[in-house]
Amino acid sequence: MASSSSANTTKAPTKQGATLSFPDSFIFGSSTSSFQVENIAANTGTDWGAYIHDRFYEIVRPGEVGPQWDDLKQAERDVQMMRDLGLDLQRISIEWGRVCPRRGEFDEQAINYYKQLIHAIKKVGIEPMVTLHHFTLPDWVAISGGWENPQTVQHFLRYVQRIVSELPDVKHWLVINEPGVQAPYGYIAGYFPPHKTNIVRFFIARNNLIRAHKKGYRLIKSLVPQAQVGSAFSCMWLRPNDPHSRLERFGTYLGNYIFNTNYIAACANDLDFIGLNYYFGYYFDLRLSEPDQMFRQDSTMTPANVPFLGVTVRPRTFRSDFGWPIAPDFFYSALRNIYDSYKKPIFVTENGIADRDDVYRGMYTLTHLVALQRAVSEGANVRGYAHWSTIDNLEWNEGYSKRFGLIKLNPVTGERKLQRSAHLYSEIAKTHTIDIDHLVKRYIRPEIQPMTHSVIRELLQCHTVRGMRLQYCK
Ligand code: BGC
Repeated sequence: MASSSSANTTKAPTKQGATLSFPDSFIFGSSTSSFQVENIAANTGTDWGAYIHDRFYEIVRPGEVGPQWDDLKQAERDVQMMRDLGLDLQRISIEWGRVCPRRGEFDEQAINYYKQLIHAIKKVGIEPMVTLHHFTLPDWVAISGGWENPQTVQHFLRYVQRIVSELPDVKHWLVINEPGVQAPYGYIAGYFPPHKTNIVRFFIARNNLIRAHKKGYRLIKSLVPQAQVGSAFSCMWLRPNDPHSRLERFGTYLGNYIFNTNYIAACANDLDFIGLNYYFGYYFDLRLSEPDQMFRQDSTMTPANVPFLGVTVRPRTFRSDFGWPIAPDFFYSALRNIYDSYKKPIFVTENGIADRDDVYRGMYTLTHLVALQRAVSEGANVRGYAHWSTIDNLEWNEGYSKRFGLIKLNPVTGERKLQRSAHLYSEIAKTHTIDIDHLVKRYIRPEIQPMTHSVIRELLQCHTVRGMRLQYCK
């Protein structure tokens, strides 16, 4: 994976109708995590499994079984669909609780399942990227204090040692997925297990997650020195509402540090690349008069109807089924800022939209890839992009009600169908180019075509449109 150069990546960058291109070495793929695509019955020995079981029929409706990747045939079928789209990478994760159902014990059948899954991914011609911890803990670890207990790091390393030794051919590892979501959601918001609201416990858990990353990184490098190892960091990006306001600029910096960059900074010495999960962004706004609602009323996410003070969006901003604003310019800002700050290669390990009827997914994917291409053409070393998600899957507290998949799934019958937006993504992945006019005309609904064009125009020109150069965009 070579670094990008600005010279050959953009043709006529500021004109509507331009064709933008990615370096040949740029990798396109899609993402999943084990708990979200496997049958819940396979993962009852986890904290999330126990929680969902207790709230049965509140999160998962009767008959819903999801993508059922614990059946290898289903997994292979979906990965083959990704290959047919022209994708080269599949992000998956390994379920720690399935592999280590009890302290000191490994389940050979479970290990074998993951070996076969990886074999199947490679067989269709796709490289796997494997996450070792994506939110879920084995029950026995959770009961003994989860990430609050420093011993959890030792248990985790024993699991990492075994898995990595079993899979020496995997080239891309992610140690932890989103410590910046797991710790605050689990220990401040009480939204994820262990559902606590305690700032002291939050810091303990956060620090243990960071230790697990650092030690995990070193362990993997000692076992497979040629492997590329990172973690995936969440990125809810902020920009100042008024770029002239010092206070808003400072608040933005602080907000980005608290939500995003402190986790990257803490791990920076032990990363071959930064995995970046980006979904949405907000303006940091000190006028507290127009707070954003942030989440839709129908979302179970708490606090669903509490306004989120201090952040705003521009009028007429499109939103996902979660209520998250569609903000590709913030993606560009995040990529530029994070690359400029850490000078580490970036791999976009998640980006996508909850969009049940596939109304906005094409527009979302197109505009975010335009933003990414611009960052690459300006020298940001972004090596690849994995769309979230391969297939509609279990969206944590929201069950199957929020749909992120390139493959649309009927969670009861298991019936699959590629979304129209998947074909847009496929054209970009296969050609490594973005032919803007063609893609908008072919894949975007007529009523949102003008908006798509204006978002793209602004994305490509924002340094001149705003009359303020890149700092504003960043
Ligand atoms: C997580 C995924 C989740 C996605 C959409 C990310 O924070 O890593 O597991 O499905 O966001 O909410």
